[in-house]
Amino acid sequence: MEKALEAEVEPEVILGWIEKIGSDSSSTVPLLQAVQSEYGYLPRAAMDLIIQNSDITGSQVYGVATFYSQFRLKPVGRHIIRICHGTACHVSGADRLKTSLRHILNITDENQDTAENGSYTIEEVACIGCCSQAPVMVMSEDVLGNLSGAAAQRALKKHAKQNDEIVTNIL
Ligand code: FES
Repeated sequence: MEKALEAEVEPEVILGWIEKIGSDSSSTVPLLQAVQSEYGYLPRAAMDLIIQNSDITGSQVYGVATFYSQFRLKPVGRHIIRICHGTACHVSGADRLKTSLRHILNITDENQDTAENGSYTIEEVACIGCCSQAPVMVMSEDVLGNLSGAAAQRALKKHAKQNDEIVTNIL
């Protein structure tokens, strides 16, 4: 499944960034930021190209990539659904939202957070400051609160329709 979502990495793009941004260890973060802003995550091929064509070691690249939460190591969908897992949302049923949305997107592999068709990725985030509306999720910058699992599914179906996306397990 992940393969279909993997980005095609063009070596000349990565080499161009190394030349422009720098090739020593102080350039690790900006280089990885450039990669992620292009591909939405850090493809392994891009990280390998950086390692092979700069003075930055593999442990520096992978160390930075895994240390900072801003970096993603897996491909993401065209749309991201952020489910708050702060304390108020957690006790109000954030897990139910996640289960309901994973079901409708047919994400069955527990190691995956992205629908097979590349439409949506579900992310867990820390408190977003709307605790009085718990449980809360954010879809396309819209904050949706006081959600049941069914309401979250309805919101996703509506969003998918508006964005020409297909959700597989329509009930
Ligand atoms: S805990 Fe979810 S918005 Fe604060």
